[in-house]
Amino acid sequence: LDGYGRDLAYVHDRGFSSFSESAAPWLLGWLSRRVPQGGLVVELGCGSGRLARRLAEAGYEVLGIDRSGDTLSLARRNAPGARFRRGSLETAPLPPCHAILALGEVLNYRFGRPRPARSLLRLFLRMRAALRPGGLLVFDLAGPGRVPGGRAEGSRLGRDWAVLFRSEEDLARHTLTRRITTFRRVGGAYRRSEEVHVLSLFREGEVLEALAAAGFSARALRGYGELRLGPGLRVFLALGPGGDPSSSTPRGKRRIRRRRRTR
Ligand SMILES: C[S@@+](CC[C@H](N)C(=O)[O-])C[C@H]1O[C@@H](n2cnc3c(N)ncnc32)[C@H](O)[C@@H]1O
Repeated sequence: LDGYGRDLAYVHDRGFSSFSESAAPWLLGWLSRRVPQGGLVVELGCGSGRLARRLAEAGYEVLGIDRSGDTLSLARRNAPGARFRRGSLETAPLPPCHAILALGEVLNYRFGRPRPARSLLRLFLRMRAALRPGGLLVFDLAGPGRVPGGRAEGSRLGRDWAVLFRSEEDLARHTLTRRITTFRRVGGAYRRSEEVHVLSLFREGEVLEALAAAGFSARALRGYGELRLGPGLRVFLALGPGGDPSSSTPRGKRRIRRRRRTR
């Protein structure tokens, strides 16, 4: 099963990519404390490159990785100052880097393969191995309660596109299924495409536990600074071991707590 084909890639870029751009000011604040100028930031599930552009403009080297070739075509246009590679975040080699970011439920997606919690641990261990001492890992994840009431429908309309979606949360299996129909004006007509996305939902506690088991000091937040997230979503801010602990306090306010492993 593939995702983010040409029409959804386009619609996402036009209608939904402002989300990661809105997170940029807060992220840049953190990056400025943990990443030297010119340091490498890897963005997983970078989509159409809107955030990558902001990071590259701020002076970081940026490598965006995404499994969808259609989103990467847009990303190369949107962010000429960044590098992009097609691949799955589960298997793509991660180069030594100062920060890893994954915004927009990227780690929830399970195209083709189930993603139980232990595969999160595998992923975090791979990230830790790539990160330089004290490196920064920031991502958001959807958890149970992402769709209040279990079912939702919605639509959005753009200048030359429309999207309809139906979401269903399976509380027993901790999954969310989104059926997405896009209409995109091409020539004189609207082209219709369908995608079905299945997401694994992770509880905040199990994510923090997996991060701690992988050696990260982490906390869960309700948003990217001023940018608050929808129901069931959390931002995870994690620091790899090593590095300068004094720079782990953003604007002198919050400290990252090292969570004990609870077993
Ligand atoms: C909701 S979009 C978010 C895009 C972008 N990060 C943003 O916030 O605008 C999810 C992106 O994750 C990508 N993705 C999902 N699963 C992936 C995987 N296993 N490996 C790489 N990319 C993945 C999709 O192709 C899509 O571009």
